[in-house]
Amino acid sequence: MSKSDFILKVEGLCRSYRMGEARVNVLAGVDLAVRQGEFVAIVGASGSGKSTLLHILGALDKPDKGVVSFEGRDLGRMGQRELNKFRNKMVGFVFQFYHLLDELSVLENVFLPAMASKSVFGWLGSRRWAKSRARELLGELGLSERANHKPYQLSGGERQRAAIGRALMNEPRILLADEPTGNLDSATGNGILKVFEKLNKAGQTIVMVTHDERIAQKAGRIITLADGKIKQGA
Ligand SMILES: Nc1ncnc2c1ncn2[C@@H]1O[C@H](COP(=O)(O)OP(=O)(O)OP(=O)(O)O)[C@@H](O)[C@H]1O
Ligand SMILES: [Mg+2]
Repeated sequence: MSKSDFILKVEGLCRSYRMGEARVNVLAGVDLAVRQGEFVAIVGASGSGKSTLLHILGALDKPDKGVVSFEGRDLGRMGQRELNKFRNKMVGFVFQFYHLLDELSVLENVFLPAMASKSVFGWLGSRRWAKSRARELLGELGLSERANHKPYQLSGGERQRAAIGRALMNEPRILLADEPTGNLDSATGNGILKVFEKLNKAGQTIVMVTHDERIAQKAGRIITLADGKIKQGA
């Protein structure tokens, strides 16, 4: 297997936080490699560092020590501009509480990442395309009828599907999801999981954090975080 088969490679990752006088080593030497097209679930107790790890993978946070490489490129060596581009183009993020903007319509929320990656003139040239891609995504996610609604008019499951649409807008190389079903009842959560399974079948690489073992079972591989490390043999 060649090196480039790994879309994401993490070596010796450490991250600590200060808690009063003490420092807590949340991540204490995490090694992890994710292959192109994999669907990986990260599980672990509350406070075990799942979100911390996911944020570092998506360059929303930086490690104290260790290397994260994406398609062979070290994130730690990227400048601010490159990192912004990485976050906008390469990664799609899905959060437990959706983080949609209530002032914007569902359609606008979905195409926002395309707008953010363009200059004013660039946007003028590409907005028709962006809007039509956003509509297409909403169609695939069963939200065509909801395009002009505001997020607060949607159910939890519909909001999460809109958030998935936004995450997919710029055709990310990897989808990172932090407890995407954590705020939903189990039937609605299963619907969201079906969306992920379908995306993965079509080739989308996914790393999903969940504390729900039943949800994790749907992924191709389960990784357990405990005591700041990946639990071996799990
Ligand atoms: N910005 C921060 N400042 C200080 N401590 C933090 C910060 N972010 C996280 N922590 C601490 O690091 C530990 C790991 O947090 P993290 O959010 O990664 O856990 P988690 O596994 O995602 O938990 P949960 O399942 O509850 O979401 C926790 O003890 C948390 O309090
Ligand atoms: Mg968390």
